[in-house]
Amino acid sequence: MTNVRLRNLREEDYPFLRSVVNDWWGGRQIADLMPRFFFQHFQTTGLTAVEEDGTHRIVGFLVGFVSPTHTEQAYIHLVGIDPAYRGRGLARNLYERFFEIVRKQGCRYVRGITSPVNIGSIQFHGRMGFEIEVGDATTSDGTPIHSDYSGEGQARVCFVKDLNR
Ligand SMILES: CC(C)(COP(=O)(O)OP(=O)(O)OC[C@H]1O[C@@H](n2cnc3c(N)ncnc32)[C@H](O)[C@@H]1OP(=O)(O)O)[C@@H](O)C(=O)NCCC(=O)NCCS
Repeated sequence: MTNVRLRNLREEDYPFLRSVVNDWWGGRQIADLMPRFFFQHFQTTGLTAVEEDGTHRIVGFLVGFVSPTHTEQAYIHLVGIDPAYRGRGLARNLYERFFEIVRKQGCRYVRGITSPVNIGSIQFHGRMGFEIEVGDATTSDGTPIHSDYSGEGQARVCFVKDLNR
């Protein structure tokens, strides 16, 4: 494996990432959750992982920001890693760099959500030190969920991490 470097998200990353995210998410419709403005306005907190082999191919990314409303909170909206690059700590590196950036901006908490079917994401967030917030229901395996969080029938698992712990 070659080395991978992290840099800030750029608008020019958008067309490539939009074209691959549905595949990276195993066929789920993710591209519509990823408008161009994230890549225009969240560059200072967003991150891109690129190959150091001369191709500068994008192999991972993170879209996140500091809440303009709750300035001690940051939010991670999306993280995705090229399937060929999984399991080597890349998403962990992206999260840890993001934690560093937002801590410097005065944040104490980082939040995120995922779909209850995304077991990989739930386990990954657990490994990254996130707690699952108590909701109004649980899945059959006991995971707390917030029913109708993203619209009728659209339950979500809500995560929070305290950066001081
Ligand atoms: C989830 C995802 C981002 C993980 O990326 P990755 O680079 O393979 O993760 P890492 O190698 O950095 O793993 C970090 C930790 O999480 C754990 N982990 C990662 N993916 C996991 C999974 N699918 N199931 C269980 N644990 C997992 C790793 O074992 C590791 O634990 P450790 O560091 O304590 O040993 C990646 O699988 C992905 O892009 N999935 C599709 C997109 C998605 O669902 N994104 C999340 C919702 S926005």
